[in-house]
Amino acid sequence: MDSPVILVDSVPADSLPAQIRCRSIALVGLMGAGKTNVGRRLAARLALPFHDTDIEIERDAGCSVPELFARYGETDFRDRERRVIRRLLADAPSVLATGGGAFMDPRTRKAIQQQATSIWLRCDLPLLLRRLTGSTNRPLLQNGDPVETLQQLIMQRHPIYGEADLVVDGVDESPDVTTAKVLAVLRTWTYVNS
Ligand code: S3P
Repeated sequence: MDSPVILVDSVPADSLPAQIRCRSIALVGLMGAGKTNVGRRLAARLALPFHDTDIEIERDAGCSVPELFARYGETDFRDRERRVIRRLLADAPSVLATGGGAFMDPRTRKAIQQQATSIWLRCDLPLLLRRLTGSTNRPLLQNGDPVETLQQLIMQRHPIYGEADLVVDGVDESPDVTTAKVLAVLRTWTYVNS
């Protein structure tokens, strides 16, 4: 369940580097990394709109992510995910919490890299397991041993998440603390390639 957003103070948009202010911010990383909880807080602090791509996909489809996987399969879900992210990136700057597999799709990754500032919320296996125990809305964790599945996903995905612009390490801390860390890296970062 999402933790409530406690809005401590908002950060004037102009306190961020100009190259960041004019782009969306996309949080990437595995299930359980805290993208939604941190994304909501980050958006509130920056006075930007917030979008969770899974929720957008569900709204468009009129059914839940597990139902989409069951009815149409993962490939169809990835197509929907790519279309939703392309649409959101074309809108005014916002904070996006992307589904864990979104950045693995080369076309989605390219769109995010070109149009957004990407931040990988990196978490280790024990933390992910603690957060995901009992989760029933992640189709990839419903079959087989969740430990093995997550280990495999870490091996496959961490090198790709590493292509994000920025990395913030999540430890066992509140989403407010992780959000403060994200804001700190955003404030100090400048695009080397811009
Ligand atoms: C997935 C992660 C989920 C959701 C879907 C697939 C993945 O999103 O998009 O179940 O491939 O890792 P969260 O990362 O928000 O849980």
